[in-house]
Amino acid sequence: TPSRHEAEDAPALCEGLVEANHAGHSGTGFCNTDNAVGAGVEFSVDAAAAGTTTLDVGYAHAGSSSRPGEVVVNGTSVRTAQFSATGAWTTWATERVTVELDAGVNTVRLQATGPDGLANIDYLDVTPGGSDQPGGD
Ligand code: GCU
Ligand code: CA
Repeated sequence: TPSRHEAEDAPALCEGLVEANHAGHSGTGFCNTDNAVGAGVEFSVDAAAAGTTTLDVGYAHAGSSSRPGEVVVNGTSVRTAQFSATGAWTTWATERVTVELDAGVNTVRLQATGPDGLANIDYLDVTPGGSDQPGGD
């Protein structure tokens, strides 16, 4: 079972507003990032061992185009994520990326590359293992 990190729970950081006005989210809310390039959500992930790790990001996005972002691990941008439209702010989906984590505490940051910011980010599910995807998502 993955370990779930809610975007609304410390030590996660939400660069925007923690809100709960769209039903169906996990936990007590989600992060509505500022609609701006560079806006992000940052999670603290404690890994028992170094290695490939599967990340499933819970999100919703009602718009018509993607809300792309990058996945920044311990300060280095290592992956891109698309956050394609889910059809409604109340329709939640997951986007999967695999990354390499260090043993101990890691910072996993999702950061918008487009002017609309990120999709609404609900949680990060972390599962040790997975097949690595060198070069992108
Ligand atoms: C709406 C919606 C927010 C969302 C925002 C956006 O305001 O209620 O949850 O974050 O659109 O487009 O980013
Ligand atoms: Ca937003």
